Amino acid sequence: LPFIMLLVVAAFIVAFVLLLYMISPLISPKPLKLNGAHVVVTGGSSGIGKSIAVECYRQGAFITLVARDEEKLLRAKKEVEKYAINDKQVVLCVSVDVSSDYTQVENVIKQAQEKLGPVDMLINCAGTSISAKFEEMEVERFKEMIELNYLGSVYPTRAVITTMKERRMGRIMFVSSQAGQIGLFGYTAYSASKFALRGLAEALQMEVKPYNIYVTLAFPPDTDTPLLAEENKSKPLETKLISETSGVWQPDQVAKIFVRDAVQGNFNSSVGPDGYMLSALTCGMSPVTSITEGLQQIVTMGLFRSIALFYLGSFDSIVRRCMIQREQSKEAD
Ligand SMILES: *[C@@H]1O[C@H](CO)[C@@H](O)[C@H](O)[C@H]1NC(C)=O
Ligand SMILES: *[C@@H]1O[C@H](CO)[C@@H](O)[C@H](O)[C@H]1NC(C)=O
Repeated sequence: LPFIMLLVVAAFIVAFVLLLYMISPLISPKPLKLNGAHVVVTGGSSGIGKSIAVECYRQGAFITLVARDEEKLLRAKKEVEKYAINDKQVVLCVSVDVSSDYTQVENVIKQAQEKLGPVDMLINCAGTSISAKFEEMEVERFKEMIELNYLGSVYPTRAVITTMKERRMGRIMFVSSQAGQIGLFGYTAYSASKFALRGLAEALQMEVKPYNIYVTLAFPPDTDTPLLAEENKSKPLETKLISETSGVWQPDQVAKIFVRDAVQGNFNSSVGPDGYMLSALTCGMSPVTSITEGLQQIVTMGLFRSIALFYLGSFDSIVRRCMIQREQSKEAD
């Protein structure tokens, strides 16, 4: 008898899960059609931003590239244009600092909308990163990072949101980081600015969901970009050893995943097995976009926390080892 009971319970669970899978498309947002859509990409002249622009362009979108350096913008424009799929497509370049003056950002977005129509999707990818020990980081850097990584995402979003609400459609992506899910050695300034995007994204999603606007919070891993090369120069040894525990991704691999998730209206977008685990672990009270996603989070959380404790233990021992080595070499001097 116990065996039959077990079988019945198992059958119920299977049927329940199957049912959830069947109805999950009904509660998920309708995918955005990129063909003919106007996509604005900040930080679009290099790295992940440029790759996202390419990915959208090859699906038929019109692109506005936003960045500071005009020369880099023009080079990126030429590169993106190679991927046209029809001769109506346009790449517009806008040179502005998205973090300094809101009125200026609003004006350039207005001009872009006049030329290419209302913005269907905004990708907030402008950002910078510096890695150093807390007390060795110049104090100015903390402000710089909050300005560019956080305010540089607030301003463009603020400039597009009213039109999106009027049209009752739109997608907004914030590009955070795996360092926006876990605070690691050397990232006191960077992590804080990337964690800030999470609060912004969660609160904003609750406000705009009834207007059929979907927010995506993307968590790139270490990605092979000019920014990483720059960051590499000043990275403390501890940070290097810790980052080596996960791999380096190519910007076009990362961009493909982010664009797919934004099109589908997924709140979370992560890359690779580490990213999958971090997203499940840190989902907290963040919105869920499909029943499948919610189920995965419920089932995996405890297991992932156990694995995470091992990782944390090994990171702590890296930091301790480096400290002891430094002190020993100081004594030797
Ligand atoms: C940065 O350093 C890591 C090792 O710490 C290396 O794997 C990676 O290729 C470097 N990236 C760039 C762009 O220099
Ligand atoms: C986060 O996004 C990734 C990429 O789309 C997906 O594979 C994963 O299931 C999501 N994780 C959670 C916990 O929702």
